[in-house]
Amino acid sequence: MVKVLFVCLGNICRSPMAEAIMRHLANEQDLDIKVDSCGMSGYHTGDIPHMSARRELDINGVSHDGIFSRRFTMSDFDQFDYIVAMDDSNVSDIKSYKNDAKVYKLTDFCENFKETEVPDPYYYGGFSFTYDILLDGCKGIIKHIQAVS
Ligand code: 4NP
Repeated sequence: MVKVLFVCLGNICRSPMAEAIMRHLANEQDLDIKVDSCGMSGYHTGDIPHMSARRELDINGVSHDGIFSRRFTMSDFDQFDYIVAMDDSNVSDIKSYKNDAKVYKLTDFCENFKETEVPDPYYYGGFSFTYDILLDGCKGIIKHIQAVS
């Protein structure tokens, strides 16, 4: 089983949306992928995803049941095969825990978007755009996993 962890700052917008989308795609395609998400801050520990994130997932028929915000921990390095960050700030925060950590960005796997970071809709809005980038990246991650396994 391949284990994928999505990481953002608050773990209420981007990474829980990515978790929900990836789980949805894995279920649809009957793939054995464990998915989780977390945030580099503890600002929203225990919270369900942001209302607009939930609305966007609902519109697209993607379940977000059982997702609660949690903070990144050192043990995540051992528990996951892929640590997938949303932006450069997440990457440097993760590397501040372990500077030789292998950290991907979700945009590394996008095929249709040229962005190099997933913009944070918490500050700038645009949850629908965020959803589209995340879906593209999650599809790319699945292709990558299938290509290397
Ligand atoms: P996220 O967005 O990292 O995509 O979950 C944020 C959510 C909350 C905060 C920052 C970013 N915050 O500062 O509370």
